[in-house]
Amino acid sequence: MVILVTGGAGYIGSHTCLELINAGYELIVLDNFSNSNIVPLHRIYEITGKHIKFYHADLLNKNSIEKIFMENKIDAVIHLAGYKSVGQSVQSPLSYYHNNVTGTLFLCQTMQKFNVTKMVFSSSATVYSINEGAISEDAQLGSSNPYGRTKLMIEEILKDLYVSDNNWSISILRYFNPVGAHSSGRLGEESNGIPNNLMPYITQVAIGKLEQLQIFGGDYPTPDGTGIRDYIHVMDLAAGHIRAIERVMTSTGVKAYNLGTGNGYSVMEMIIMFSQVSGRKIPYTIVDRRPGDVAVCYADPSMAKRELFWEAERGIEEMCEDAWRWQLINPSGYKEIVRKI
Ligand code: WQD
Repeated sequence: MVILVTGGAGYIGSHTCLELINAGYELIVLDNFSNSNIVPLHRIYEITGKHIKFYHADLLNKNSIEKIFMENKIDAVIHLAGYKSVGQSVQSPLSYYHNNVTGTLFLCQTMQKFNVTKMVFSSSATVYSINEGAISEDAQLGSSNPYGRTKLMIEEILKDLYVSDNNWSISILRYFNPVGAHSSGRLGEESNGIPNNLMPYITQVAIGKLEQLQIFGGDYPTPDGTGIRDYIHVMDLAAGHIRAIERVMTSTGVKAYNLGTGNGYSVMEMIIMFSQVSGRKIPYTIVDRRPGDVAVCYADPSMAKRELFWEAERGIEEMCEDAWRWQLINPSGYKEIVRKI
């Protein structure tokens, strides 16, 4: 079976492609390299011995999407391509709506034209408006930022698409906080510039690229005053996509699933665990809260367990070990020659 993976060269995409290949799928990757590059696809070949057919293309160029569907018999699409920084979306909302929403519309129109009606869509926990405590899929929706609103709009578009044509089968995956890397250390999270997210910031402090971590808020109503999140290993997230593809191939309808562990860890707990795992101190200062952050956010993942037969298997220690191994071997991400350890 042939799967088109949009954004397949990115952090989530490359780990998902690796798992899809290991599960026996034939892949085509579309990526415009706006937040990625070709190296992860080469690394996947080194790990699996399998080539991935690659198109350097942009979802905003509808002709380039049609070319892919004309040249290949595609059975389903895993749609990961999109801008994903909350902070950047507040600064540049129009580029986020255009890139994420228009790009998805062009993709769906092309799928419709070629009668491909099976999709797994990468959404996010930021679509929930109430981010306090265990969040189930029927929690109130409504994002506080343009990035989350692009995801919410796309979810509504996909639901309307199914209402117009019941042949569509779509699984919406709402990611919590993906972290970690493939255990080989050959794939991982590459940050263009200063990382926004906690784990890549910690790993860059650990290798000395950044001086110290700023903890955004030490006065939250949590046991140690720092924010609590549901960190999920990127390999568990990738496995969730395999289960979701199996579902869309054997059913119709649109359904959203939380991909999280159901456990919350604070910033301070992450720092302590990472230091234990790496043997490196993580200097930090506690500063003001970051606008838009909530105190506590973690998943109720029971629906995915029940309907996708999926649950996260890796714990916080393995997340830290794998993130550290990636950073140690690749101090500047995919740009630098790999350092042997
Ligand atoms: C985690 C915790 C911060 C950085 C974001 C996106 C979300 C999703 C996952 C795409 C919070 C604290 C962070 C730092 C800190 N991405 N922190 N110092 O904000 O929960 O979610 O990434 O879908 O859309 O919003 O993740 O890693 O930025 O923050 O103290 O330098 O770490 O306050 O408590 P977040 P994060």
